[in-house]
Formats: sequence, structure tokens, C-alpha cells
Amino acid sequence: MAYLAQTKSGQPVLILKEGASRSRGKEARRNNIMAARVIAEAITTTLGPRGMDKMLVSGIGDITITNDGAAILDEIDVEHPAAKMMVDVAKTQDDMVGDGTTTAVILSGALLKKGEELLEENIHPTVIVSGYRKAAQQALKVLEKISKTVDLEDKKSLKKVAVTSMASKAVGPTREHFADIVIEAVKQIAEKRGDRWIADIDNIQITKKEGKSLGDTQLVKGIILDKEVVHAGMPKQVKNTKIALLDTALEVKKTEFDATIRIQDPSKMQAFLDQETHMLKEMVDKIAKKGANVVICQKGIDDMAQHFLAKKGILAIRRAKQSDMEKLSRATGGEVMTNIDDLNRKDLGQAQLVEERKIGDDKMVFIEGCKNPRSVSILIHAGLERMVDEAERAIHDALSVVADVVEKNRIVAGGGAAEAEVAKALREYAPKIGGREQLAVEAFAESMEIIPNTLAENAGLEKIDVMVELRAAHEKPKGQSMGVDVFTGKIVNMHQKGVIEPLSVKEQAVKSAVESASMILRIDDIISSGKTAAPPTPPGGPSGEPPEY
Ligand SMILES: Nc1ncnc2c1ncn2[C@@H]1O[C@H](COP(=O)(O)OP(=O)(O)OP(=O)(O)O)[C@@H](O)[C@H]1O
Ligand SMILES: [Mg+2]
Repeated sequence: MAYLAQTKSGQPVLILKEGASRSRGKEARRNNIMAARVIAEAITTTLGPRGMDKMLVSGIGDITITNDGAAILDEIDVEHPAAKMMVDVAKTQDDMVGDGTTTAVILSGALLKKGEELLEENIHPTVIVSGYRKAAQQALKVLEKISKTVDLEDKKSLKKVAVTSMASKAVGPTREHFADIVIEAVKQIAEKRGDRWIADIDNIQITKKEGKSLGDTQLVKGIILDKEVVHAGMPKQVKNTKIALLDTALEVKKTEFDATIRIQDPSKMQAFLDQETHMLKEMVDKIAKKGANVVICQKGIDDMAQHFLAKKGILAIRRAKQSDMEKLSRATGGEVMTNIDDLNRKDLGQAQLVEERKIGDDKMVFIEGCKNPRSVSILIHAGLERMVDEAERAIHDALSVVADVVEKNRIVAGGGAAEAEVAKALREYAPKIGGREQLAVEAFAESMEIIPNTLAENAGLEKIDVMVELRAAHEKPKGQSMGVDVFTGKIVNMHQKGVIEPLSVKEQAVKSAVESASMILRIDDIISSGKTAAPPTPPGGPSGEPPEY
């Protein structure tokens, strides 16, 4: 539908292109809110340790089974623009803090639901948004106030944080083992810059291998390559290595166009082949001369070159992944070379040991004792491919939360305790705001309670009873850490129970939720341009023949 306006004299003016559509005011808002809420409701059942998993089937039939909010929303193909904004909430949460994606999206959905109710009561969106903003600021203050400091040497607390983040992932009792690995890994990569700690978990390599069980997952101080040593004649283990990292093939380059060389004399044929061999030998000699005893190549290595490398006792690996090459460069201090002629001694990386080991049915190469002690890998084992993937997501969440605590060493109580305390504080704060904004602050308070509410519901508990009890517990002095124990249905002190989460995860959830909900509430006009139509067929059909009359 093209959109028309009229001039004073009643002349129609075409504003939007043919095929464009527009919806405005209440209709537009309702539309957006509904789409966003559908997304939030879709992942509601996955929240918490007793939440359910989702099975996602891709277009080509790949199956993913997960509980991870970010992973679910990443897999599903969302069309509606407001729904896409919810997917972005999960992404932002995942990028910033690595956990709490489900929480952020559910919270945003609740803010929209309450917002819709306020709109029905004819409260202007601007008033709702400004009330929400004030409430969010207050919520952040409350979270900061109720948070506790963790000593980075306090391994027990760090472990609790890691275990809590993995409580909802289907990794079972291996959680404890994973938590130990994760803490050790983050400790290795954490570094102090000025008076701040930085823990960039991108420095931790994660390698997955089917076979064996989750319990065999291990931490390797170094890098792992899912590759074999290329030639049987090469050593399987080299100590005190000097590693050449190459981003160029050890092959004789073929010309880009076909050329025919006619060789009439049989002796010339041999000479021609010898020439190729000679070039390969020269390449290997160059590398060996610089003192390299290990070659890791991102591209291919010719059979003949492999033979020469083996003769020199050099261990070589071919077709390493680019991401692994970058990690190797950082870990060993070596430079990735695109031309062998430029290779110098100083470009070689160093590691105490490079060794091929048999893992399950496959072989992998371990590069250990690297120059940079900050390079670590986690080798995940699991019986099934899907299990390996879910274990990776669990480890990702655990690494993220431990890194969050290392960077900002404050924690809050989980199990809906922090949210319930914020809700209580906001109810006390609302009358200070007054006017219609007060209603929005109260709506925010109720929205926060969606978290304990959902945890209880997903655990099959009587949520109304649980919420009454939870509110009562928070009214009492020292009741601020009381949350829902989803396994017994009781209201308990979550710090004592060991269910704790990084403050930054909760802060980010509030920030992302309020941002997205406000943005959606403020939209009152959706103008979508029509799909670009295919150019019209010329008269007479595609062939361009003039039509016959
Ligand atoms: N033992 C427990 N008892 C009660 N609540 C728990 C327990 N362990 C974890 N929780 C709570 O479960 C919630 C986290 O659930 P979950 O990990 O499914 O979602 P998320 O962290 O918001 O999102 P995601 O992990 O998918 O990014 C938190 O509120 C946390 O406090
Ligand atoms: Mg989580």
C-alpha cells in the first residue's frame, strides 16, 4: 500500500513507495510488544537449574539441545524487528558478561508486559520510560549495596560462582570438576594492568573431542591442535622447540593457467622432476638452517617436502586453523610468516615440548610449556557430539562468570534473592517519585519478581505461596539474601546455600532489559518499505521479442 497524504486543496501526495506499509500509535506498539514478548516467553521455561532444555533443528537438520538463552535465540531465525531486538538483548548480555542471557530477556519481556498494562490505563509511553529509567538507576544502586566483596584468593567462593552458572546446564556432577579447571584457566590468563585486573577469556582455547566422558575434560597449559604429525618418519615428540609458523604452502606453486611443456628427451623429464624436488628441498633447507625443529603450516605440505622435513628430524603439521595460528603466535612468541625467504631466527616461536598424543581414537598435537605462560587450553571430552557442545556452553558461562568476578570482585545472592530485594527496595522508593511515574516504578518492581517467580514455576512449585513467603522473608532484618531453593521449595539464605552470581551479570541484565523495553515502548510508528520487486518483464517476455498483435 502506498501511503498518501493530502495538500490543503485536497491534492493527493504520494509519500511512500508502492508496497510500503505503515502502522501507527497503539496498533504499532501492541504489535511490537507482542512480538518481543513471544520471544521472552519462548525461553522462560529454560530459566534455572530445574528449567527445561530446547531442541533446535536447523534448516539442514542439525540438532542442538541446549538450555542457554543466547544459544537458543542465536539459532532461531527471527523475522519481526522488535523480536530481533530481544535477540540483541541476549547477544549484548552474552558479549558483555557471558551469563544471565535468559534473565535479561525474561526481564525485558516482563517490563514490556507491565508497560502494556500501563499504556492501557492511558499512561503516556514517555512517562513509563522515564519511570523505568529512574527505577533502573535505583535498582543498580541497590544491587551494588547488597553485593559482597570476594577475595580473589578465595577459591571456594569462585568455585561457587562457577558451579551456580553451570547449575542449569546438563553437565551433571562434572560441574565441580569443570569449576576447578575453569578457575585454574582464568587464573592463568588474568593479568594486572595498573590497579585493575583484566581477564580476557578469548585467550583460553577450547578444543572439543568426542569419546571418553565429561570427567576426562582437562586443562592443558599450552595449545592443542586437532591435527596429526604429517609424516610417519617424523619425531612424535620434540623438546626445547623452535617453531616456524607458516602461512604459505610448502609446495611448488602451480601456474594459474594451463601450460603444456613438451619434453622430447627422456633425460630432460628426469631433470624437470629433479627441479621440482630441488625447489622443495631448498625450502626445507631454508627452514632448517634457521634452527627450526617444528613446522606448523596453515596451508599444505607436499609429500616430497614432508620427506625432506622428516629426514631433518623436523616435526611438521599442516592445515592448522587460522584462529589456532593466532593463538600459537601469542603463546610461543613466534611470527606467522607468509614467505619462507623472510624467516629469521627471531621469528621462531618457543615451547618446551611439542608432542603428538593419542586421545581416544584420534591423535592430537600438544604444544606445552610455551614462552607466554598465559596460554591455556581446555580439552573437553564427552561421549556424544551434542553433549560436547553443551559442555562447551557450560564452560563458556563458567569462564565468563569467573572472569567477571576477577575483573569486578563483587557478588550477589542468586535464586531470585537479589531480584526480590531490588523489588522490595523499589516499592519503598516509588512513593518518593510520585505522580504517574510512580506507577512505572512499581511496575518495574513487579517485573523484577519475574525471576524468582519463574524459578519457582520451572521447579514445579506453587509459585504464589513461594512469592508470599519470599516477600515476607525480605521484610525481615537480614532477609536480603533469601531466595528460592528450587530443589526443596524452601526460602533459604542463598549465600549460605552457595548460590552466588557476579554483580556485573545482574547489573548488565537490568541495563539491557530496561534499554530494550524502553526502546520498544517509545516506538509509535512502524514504516516498512515494500520488498524490492523484480524488474518488470519487458514486453514480449524475457527474450525481448516485440509482442505480436
Ligand atoms: N541451586 C539453585 N537454586 C536456586 N536458583 C539457582 C540455583 N542455581 C542457579 N540458580 C538461579 O538460576 C538462574 C540462572 O538460570 P540460567 O542459567 O538458566 O539462566 P541465565 O543465567 O539467566 O541465562 P543463560 O545461562 O542461559 O545465559 C539465576 O537466577 C540463578 O541464581
Ligand atoms: Mg546461566
